[in-house]
This record gives sequence, C-alpha cells and structure tokens, in this order.
Amino acid sequence: LNESERFPEGFLWGGATAANQIEGAYLTGNKGLTIADILPGGKIRLEWLQDERPLEIIADKYTYPNHEGINHYEHFKQDIALFAEMGFKCYRFSISWARIFPTGEELTPNQEGLDFYGNIIDELIKHNIEPVVTISHFEMPLYLAKTYGGWKDRKLISLFLNYCEVLFKHFGKKVKYWMTFNEINSAFMMPIMSLGFQTNGDNFKNKDIFQALHHQFVASSLAIKLGREMIKSVKIGSMVIAAPFYPLTCNPKDILYAFDIERMWNFYCSDIQVRGEYPSYSQRHFKENNIELEIAPGDLDIIRSNTVDYIAFSYYNSCTEKHPSGDEVRVGGNMMSGVENPYLTASEWGWEIDPTGLRIILNKIYDRYKTPLFIVENGLGAKDTVKADGSIDDDYRIEYLKEHLIAASEAIKDGVELMGYTMWGCIDLVSASTGQMSKRYGFIYVDKQDDGSGTFARSRKKSFYWYKEVITQNGNNI
Ligand code: BG6
Repeated sequence: LNESERFPEGFLWGGATAANQIEGAYLTGNKGLTIADILPGGKIRLEWLQDERPLEIIADKYTYPNHEGINHYEHFKQDIALFAEMGFKCYRFSISWARIFPTGEELTPNQEGLDFYGNIIDELIKHNIEPVVTISHFEMPLYLAKTYGGWKDRKLISLFLNYCEVLFKHFGKKVKYWMTFNEINSAFMMPIMSLGFQTNGDNFKNKDIFQALHHQFVASSLAIKLGREMIKSVKIGSMVIAAPFYPLTCNPKDILYAFDIERMWNFYCSDIQVRGEYPSYSQRHFKENNIELEIAPGDLDIIRSNTVDYIAFSYYNSCTEKHPSGDEVRVGGNMMSGVENPYLTASEWGWEIDPTGLRIILNKIYDRYKTPLFIVENGLGAKDTVKADGSIDDDYRIEYLKEHLIAASEAIKDGVELMGYTMWGCIDLVSASTGQMSKRYGFIYVDKQDDGSGTFARSRKKSFYWYKEVITQNGNNI
C-alpha cells in the first residue's frame, strides 16, 4: 500500500445476506421447512428463543415475517442489478439447505432449488460480481432438527456432506469462495438457530453444544477436503461472530474473567478450525464441566488435515465484562454481550457501537493465526424514515460504516491481511434476533413493514450513493 491508499488492490467490496432473511417463498419450489421458518417475528423472538419450544409453526399465535422475507425469490434480478450499480465486487449469500434437500435426507436434490441458486450465481457473474456462498446460515431442514435433535446427532455429518457435494458439483465451476457454518460459535448462545436444538442451552457448560460443535468441526473439515478435491483453487473459510472483550476495570479478577470469556467465544471454534486441534485450555474446561466428547477414530486426523483457508467474521459490537458479583446490569449485543461500557454509545437495539473494537479484534485474530481475514458482516440496524419525496437520509448509517472502514484500514496498516468487506444486510431484510423489518441495515430500502404491509418496492438510500463512491475509490475517500 502507498501512504495514500487505505485498501489493497482487488479488495472484495460487497454486501451480505442470508436466504432465510430475504428470500421469502418459504414453501415455493418444493422447499422444505427450515429451523428459521418456525421462529416467530417481532421482539417476542428473543424471549421465545430462551425456553424449550415445539419446533412448529403456531400460526394462530405468532407471525412469521421470514415466510415472505423481502421476496428476493422473485426480485433477485432487480436486487443484483442494484448491487451491481453500487459496484459490488462480491456478494455473500446463503443457500437454503432445504431448497436443495427439503428434509435433508432425500437421495436426489431438488432441481428447482438448484435452478434458483444457479440463476442467482449466473446473474452475479453477468454483473462481474464474485459469489461468496455460506453453506449453512441458520437454515437446517426442520426435519433434521425434529428427527435427530439437529447437530447433536453424528448422522448430520454425512447428510451435510451430501449437501456440500451437490453444491460443489453444480456450482463449483463458478463459485470460488465458500464458508461452511455461519457464526459457528453462535452455538453457545443460540443453539436453536445454530444447531437445530429444541432449546437454548446454558452456554459454555452444555455438553450437547460441545458435542454438536464437534460434529460441525468434522463436517466442516470433510467439506474442505471434498471442496479441494472437486474445485480448482477453492477457498473455504470458517465464519465466527467476533468481538473484543474488555475488562471493566484493571482488577485482575475482571481481566481474567474477560480473558476467559473472550477465549471461549472468539477463539474456541477458530482455534480448532484454523490450527486443526483442540486447544490446551479446552481440557480443563471439559473436565470441570463434566463434558466428555464422543470422538470417533479418525475425527482428530480429519480436523488436523483439513483446516480453513481464511477466517470470515461478523462484527457489530465489542463486549465489556467484569467478574460477576450478581448486581451487574447486562446490556444487549449481537448474541455476545456484557456489562455497560461507559465510553460507548449504543444503537437503538442496545448494541454498543465501537469502531476501534474492530481494529482491535482484527489484530487479535490475525496475530493469533496469521490467516487471511474477511469481514463478512458489519452494519447498523436502525429505523429509517422515508421523506415525502421518497428519499432516505441515513447519515447515521454512513457515519457508522465510515468509522468501521477507517478502523479496518488502520488494521490493514497494522499488517493485517484483509480480503474484503461485505456489509451486512446490504438490502433491508428480516432481523435474525427480533424478526423485525423495522431494524433496517440496507443501502436499499424495501417497502415492507412489521405489520406485514408493504409493496416490496426497492429504493436507494443516501448510503447507497455513498457506498458506491467508496467502492469506486477503493475506500480512499473515507
Ligand atoms: C448475525 C447473523 O449474527 O447478525 C445475521 O449472521 C443477523 O443473520 C445479523 O441478521 C444481525 O443481527 P440482527 O439480529 O440485527 O438481524
């Protein structure tokens, strides 16, 4: 980089979404139900996720905004044209497993699902946009959750592999960048969404979560092995939620507490997926929490021999922690959260905004692994107001993104190898944690409201033009 440059040549600028949050058409084209399809909409979702629930749609009691999403299923050409207008170099999206295998157990894939994603990929390529595919983003076929208890059962490994094989066979010639599980470490906080469990667990102490994660590590490594056999110069990454954890005070007890949590949250999964072995600290943790993993012969070799090519991660907020004394007031955050940081302000949803934290976490991850990094989610969920003339002045979003991009560019100067940046929810979509439409992230506004009303019309926000300029100038104007 020259002094005047912030980002390297070939930097992958783009946006990110997930099938269950945008596609809608939840039963169209022979798609099966997914775990996301049974999550109710509205703020109730977070509460709902806390208890043991029937894995069913309860239509007389709840609403299900994902069922319609933003109807990307029918609007994908228009949406991709808008991404192209902003100059996207890449677009990260997920494939819904249940569009390809409606129950997860069919012997042959569903052609309509393959066609749908084939068309998306072709459309992207037509616009010179590199597809970046998440293979599993909170979208396991519901049948697998109900029949096997999700990833708790080893059987999921072979089913996932069948699914990967079909994707690699059909799309491998056109898709170079893949990631296996979205936010694999979200298993600790949201095992319903992440692992297909019936209930959320108690975090780092739940044996089932560690067992299910073990199955995912093996599955991910086998997918990498297969991908390398089937696709020339393929790049397959892990994907984690990342946040630096700050101790609230310099009391060593607070420091140790924050250190321990950060290590489990941020690094447990990537230690295994990047270094290829269970970390030393896991042994004591397992022992003290009566966790005895069932590890089949060969599993550890599979994990060791097939590590990831890059680490993708999402970043929304940092976390501050103190040794618990029982009177802490917890604050919100994207699954990972802690106590209030007096130096930070928060979004309307209580997620603390901390661009410096992005520079810190980029450095922490890179120092640890020296593996290329990819920011595949970052953004601000906010309420937007459409003015009488139809325009949307989302200066708050521009400010948020700008500060985070400056922080990322500083990390690059620090020596971090950063492949790209895909802003989360580049087009408004249904929120994963609250099922709301009003928690908007996009550069593109979608006329769809929490009460279900709306025309699905798309319009450009002020940030749309801003991001276009950022990409044109390769970030040198921020
Ligand atoms: C990430 C998920 O955790 O955060 C996305 O990968 C999600 O699916 C994003 O949408 C933002 O969270 P939320 O709850 O605001 O949608």
